[in-house]
Amino acid sequence: MEHFPVIKTVSLAKSFNADPARNIGIKNLSIEIDKGTFTVIMGNSGSGKSTLLYLLSGLEQPSTGSIWLNGSTIQNLNENAMTLFRRKHIGFVFQDHNLIANLSLLENILVAGYLVNKDRKVVQARAEMLMEQLEISTLAQRLPSQVSGGERQRCAISRALINNPEILMADEPTGSLNSSASEKVLSCFDEVHRTGQTVLMVTHDPKSACHGDRVLFLKDGMLVDALLFEKQKGLTDRHQILLNWLQSLGW
Ligand SMILES: Nc1ncnc2c1ncn2[C@@H]1O[C@H](COP(=O)(O)OP(=O)(O)O)[C@@H](O)[C@H]1O
Ligand SMILES: [Mg+2]
Repeated sequence: MEHFPVIKTVSLAKSFNADPARNIGIKNLSIEIDKGTFTVIMGNSGSGKSTLLYLLSGLEQPSTGSIWLNGSTIQNLNENAMTLFRRKHIGFVFQDHNLIANLSLLENILVAGYLVNKDRKVVQARAEMLMEQLEISTLAQRLPSQVSGGERQRCAISRALINNPEILMADEPTGSLNSSASEKVLSCFDEVHRTGQTVLMVTHDPKSACHGDRVLFLKDGMLVDALLFEKQKGLTDRHQILLNWLQSLGW
């Protein structure tokens, strides 16, 4: 695997309030995330996990500091340029899927593809392939309200992947799912990772976090520690290692 930071930040900070002692989202954060890795972000509620993901995807503007995605700085892009960049290079999965209620699952995926690629045949073929891979093909014509939470989330992942983004970001993607639906969604992330895509996932669930190869821990908007799993360790070993590590961080 080539060593290339697909995401890099230097002294990144985001404050939501004029008084910097209050409502600090992210403080002085410098990280590098290599291409093809699966990075997990953990931390207590309010520690800045969502804020970090929103900054990295250009959904939020930093107060200070810099962000490079795929070697280009993004903070100088205007809103239109950022939107175009994001559609092309970043797939984003929200906790509550954000699918369009009156479009079918297939249409939800196609719409995201048509925004970037004018070749409808290519987009349609890719949507069908993704739905096949994520095992939702038979639900293509259903509305989001007519499928389960896990199926909606798998549709949201297909939509995030339709433009073959360099980075797949997900904010608590299994937060509202039961454990068997979570497992299925996580195995989709494993598959995306296995095919060489970079995955960045926020979760508060240690079991989900074990699917990553590195875990970053945020506290009060700061990166306090990082855990790198040994490649050969299975999920059960990782889980124990992670729990010990989280405990040492006051989780
Ligand atoms: N839009 C906002 N306006 C004001 N404060 C915010 C906003 N978004 C987040 N914050 C604050 O930033 C901190 C981090 O929030 P967040 O990133 O949502 O944490 P997490 O995802 O880890 O639960 C919290 O103190 C939160 O109240
Ligand atoms: Mg959050």
